[in-house]
Amino acid sequence: MNSATRLKLFCAVSPGLEALLQQDLSAIAEAKHVRLVLGGCEVQVDPVGVWGVVLRSRLTESARVRIGAFSARTFDELTAGMAKLPWAAWLPRCSTPEVRVSCTKSKLWHSGAVQERVQAQVHARLSDAKQPNSFHPPAARVYVRIDHDAVRVSVDASGELLHRRGERTAVGRAPMRETLAAAVVLAAALPAGAHVWDPFCGSGTMLLEAGRMAGVGVRPREGGYAFELWPNHAPDAYAAWLAADAAVTDAAVTDAALTEAAAAMPTLYGCDHDAKELEGARLNLENAGLLAHTTLRACDFSEMAAEVPAGATIVSNLPYGRRADVGDVFRRFGRLLAKRKDLDVWLVLGHASHADALRIPPKAALNLRNGGLRVGLYHRPAARA
Ligand SMILES: C[S@@+](CC[C@H](N)C(=O)[O-])C[C@H]1O[C@@H](n2cnc3c(N)ncnc32)[C@H](O)[C@@H]1O
Repeated sequence: MNSATRLKLFCAVSPGLEALLQQDLSAIAEAKHVRLVLGGCEVQVDPVGVWGVVLRSRLTESARVRIGAFSARTFDELTAGMAKLPWAAWLPRCSTPEVRVSCTKSKLWHSGAVQERVQAQVHARLSDAKQPNSFHPPAARVYVRIDHDAVRVSVDASGELLHRRGERTAVGRAPMRETLAAAVVLAAALPAGAHVWDPFCGSGTMLLEAGRMAGVGVRPREGGYAFELWPNHAPDAYAAWLAADAAVTDAAVTDAALTEAAAAMPTLYGCDHDAKELEGARLNLENAGLLAHTTLRACDFSEMAAEVPAGATIVSNLPYGRRADVGDVFRRFGRLLAKRKDLDVWLVLGHASHADALRIPPKAALNLRNGGLRVGLYHRPAARA
């Protein structure tokens, strides 16, 4: 693949976060022509852009590259179209990829039958004449989407879901998905150098995302990404790209007092009354290189409030429990918010009645899902000074 190759990359996101994903991707220099589509966004990239999007996007859950498109109304047309695709460039020889098919309003409607044909084609194209029976277990994923007889074929670029960033080694009792925390931070539109408080920080996911989104450079996760298995992947160029990014980040950190990047970094405040959760947050923020920007306390939220400067932003995911269990916390936190009108407040709540208890606007800015639960993002803007 040469650097002039133009690729279409589809980035999938959790339902409800499509518009924020568009914002997230639009800020990535390598992603061009970001377009909102069902379930996510489509972007144009060159091969380096695949790395840029997969490693920089904070909201994308999975990414896949389009390797071909054609129309088919019969199985013969499907097989002929599949036979022309450049499989050997995208899938490791002798791999048996998982094939996922969706058919909508098309002559070819039976996804199981389509899947069988595609699997047979892929198998035939990737087999090794010298070692015909040497197939590995699934190491890659192929997506076939047939809509109104138009067939689009893509291969997975990300591998394991991207919210598994490998940065949060300590996971608390009710951890928030990293991509969701990133969405909250993006929705809050933190100004450069913001002061950010999570009064119920648990393992520190919100603070971690707020710090990482301000730009601490890319960090490849240990397990890697699906694109690293593509036969057309250029490992040396990838290593050089990572090194160049690290060099830019190091320069920004070294000249901390002087650089714009350092000035843009938020100051983070977190507390949790559970000392074990707080210890997890400390470890996670340390791993992410953010501890120097963070003040953490194992205490009730009310004990940290005085440290948080006027005009700060709260981003937090409150305890979900039944109202009877969390009523006292919500009442006390509601009183604090009523006193601190200077704070811009973004809260993920398990139920609209919690917004009532907190006396903040009860209409969710966004409806989301966290670990199978329906939750809402509620916003109380700061009062104008
Ligand atoms: C839903 S969890 C937050 C999870 C966190 N966002 C994460 O990703 O790990 C709510 C947290 O609030 C903490 N908490 C409950 N009551 C508190 C209080 N009065 N003061 C401080 N923390 C409290 C709990 O210990 C719990 O860790």
